[in-house]
Amino acid sequence: MRIDLVSLFPEFVAQLAGHGVVGRAQERGLLSLHGWNPRDHAEGNYRRVDDRPFGGGPGMVMLIDPLRAALQAARAADPRPVATIYLSPQGRPLTQAKVRELAARERLLLLCGRYEGVDERLVAAEVDEEVSIGDYVLSGGELAAAVVVDAVARLQEGALSDAESAAQDSFEDGLLDCPHYTRPVEHALGAVPEVLLSGNHAQIARWRRQQALGRTWARRPDLLDEAGLSPADRRLLEAYKAETG
Ligand code: ADE
Repeated sequence: MRIDLVSLFPEFVAQLAGHGVVGRAQERGLLSLHGWNPRDHAEGNYRRVDDRPFGGGPGMVMLIDPLRAALQAARAADPRPVATIYLSPQGRPLTQAKVRELAARERLLLLCGRYEGVDERLVAAEVDEEVSIGDYVLSGGELAAAVVVDAVARLQEGALSDAESAAQDSFEDGLLDCPHYTRPVEHALGAVPEVLLSGNHAQIARWRRQQALGRTWARRPDLLDEAGLSPADRRLLEAYKAETG
């Protein structure tokens, strides 16, 4: 997969993406990242990339032309078609389902805004999708782009080892993840739940499912409605509620 990134700080995203699973995916040739700086496409001695907003108000708005030229250069760098995604709080929420959809594409072009935003005419003409990573405001799209790159990279075939398999992740089945434990069995902070030491795989799977259901119910009840619980799941959850009071 190839990801192009238009940003005033492309090295910042490359730096964030250079470690761990994403770094390894790049080394293995599963993912390549390419940064494009709109300042390189700006005119004049000052290489201006922003200006004051019409109608007044604080902050600056990013100019159309440097961004447009950077987007066009990025698109032209590879013959395969590419969807342009603008990271902004006004976008549709990034969910694991959305991540899976993006991860299946051959190319992505991520546009990061700074300051108060980007001239809306650029968004209307050049952007296919607006994506938000959550209901809060960042000072720029770079951290959001790094989030997309990370989430998408780890789903590339061969990026994760078997031990890191994405199949058990939170959200893959619409539920939060169950808790995890490692050695020592006994610790001043508590003991590992008995069942995990039992060697009984059916019981362990049942316990994990119940924990996932229980945590989702307690912390993210909004997800439960969409998770399509089976009758067995409902029984497990009722037992969880009875136990935890
Ligand atoms: N840029 C600023 N805030 C953002 C957010 N919440 N998601 C995506 N991009 C952003």
